[in-house]
Amino acid sequence: MVARLPGYPAAAATWQLGNMILGIETSCDETSVALLEHDGSVRVNLIASQVERHRPFGGVVPEIASREHLQHLFPLVSRALADAGATWSDIDRIAVTAGPGLIGALLVGVAGAQGLSYALGVPLVAVNHLEGHLFSPWLQREGAAIPLPPRFLSMVISGGHSQIYDVENGRVTMLNRTRDDAIGETFDKVAKFIGLPYPGGPQIEKNAGGGTIDRRRFPLSVPQFKDDSLDFSYSGIKAGAIRIAREHGIRAGGDPKLLADFCATFQEALFAQLFDRLDAIWSGLRRPLPTEAAIAGGVAANGTLREKMLAWGRDRGVIVRLPENRYCTDNAAMIAFAALQPSNAITDPRRVTARSRIA
Ligand code: KG4
Ligand code: ZN
Repeated sequence: MVARLPGYPAAAATWQLGNMILGIETSCDETSVALLEHDGSVRVNLIASQVERHRPFGGVVPEIASREHLQHLFPLVSRALADAGATWSDIDRIAVTAGPGLIGALLVGVAGAQGLSYALGVPLVAVNHLEGHLFSPWLQREGAAIPLPPRFLSMVISGGHSQIYDVENGRVTMLNRTRDDAIGETFDKVAKFIGLPYPGGPQIEKNAGGGTIDRRRFPLSVPQFKDDSLDFSYSGIKAGAIRIAREHGIRAGGDPKLLADFCATFQEALFAQLFDRLDAIWSGLRRPLPTEAAIAGGVAANGTLREKMLAWGRDRGVIVRLPENRYCTDNAAMIAFAALQPSNAITDPRRVTARSRIA
C-alpha cells in the first residue's frame, strides 16, 4: 500500500506554509532554479548554463546534459534560498518542467522536484516547458508580473520549437507549429555549417550587423504549403542556406562582407516567415482581437526581431510584450510563473512523469 502523503491530496489546495513558489527547469542544457512570489515577482532566478560543455560537439549532448543537471540542481536550490534570504518553510509550492525536452535531463528535474515535494510536504505543479516560454514576456525584471490581458497571442521561438499560441481567459490554444526544424535549430545548424560556434543564433545576429549590408543578396524565400497551412517550415531555408554557403565558400573568418551579407540575408528570411504566418493568423482571428502579442524563447533575444515585432504591433495598434533577455532562454522563473496560471493545476507528485514529447 502506498503511504498517504502529507498534505495530499485533501490539504494541497489549502497548504499555506510560506509564500514562495520554487521553480525547477532542466529540460535541455540549462539547469535553472527560481523563487517567485505569488504575484509573479522574481526573487531569484539562477541559471547554470552548460553551453561551454556542449560547444565542442556543436550541439547539446543529452548524456552530458543529464549529468550536469544532476551535479548542479541541488546546489542551485540551496543557493537560491540563500540569495533570497529564505528558508525551506518559505516554499509553499514547487513547479517543475515535465516536458517537452530531453528525457534524461527532464527526469533529473522531475525526480528532484518530487523528492522535495515529498520532503517538504508541499504541492507540485508539472509545467509544460512551452507554456513557461509563452507567459514569460509578462515577467518583469523587478516587481510583480504585468497583469495578463483577457486575450493575447504569444509566439514561442526557440531551439526546439516554433509555434504561435492564442491565450484567451487562461485557455491556451496552439494555432500553428513547425512541420520540421525549429527556427533556433535552423540558426544553429547553418551557423555550425559555416564554422560559427554554438549556439548559432547570437553568432548569426552578431555577424549580420554593422556596415553596409545587403540583406537580399542571396535567394531565400518564404515557403508556402499547397494546402494553405499556416504551419512553419524551416528545413527548406536550412538546405538553401547551406547550399549557398557551399557554392560561395562562405566561412567564419572568411571574406567579412560575404559573411555579413549571408548572415543578414539568412536571418531576414527566417524572420520573414515568422511575420508571414503571424499576419495570416492575425487576419483570420475571431473578434474581439487580442490586445497584446508577444515573442518568447531563445530567438526572442534577437535585437533585429525585437525591433520588427515592435513595428508589427505599432502598425496594428497591438501592445507588444518582449521578454527580458534573462527570460528568453531557458529559465526556472518562467516555469514557476506558468505554474501560477489557472491552466496549470496542482498535481499529485506520484503522478508527475517526464515526457520528451507533448502533443
Ligand atoms: O529557449 P532556448 O534557450 O532553448 C530551447 O528551449 O530551445 O533557445 C535556444 C535557441 C538557440 O537555438 C539559440 O541559437 C537561439 O535560441 N538564440 C538566438 C539568439 N539568442 C539565442 N537566435 C537568434 N538570435 C539571438 N540573439
Ligand atoms: Zn526553451
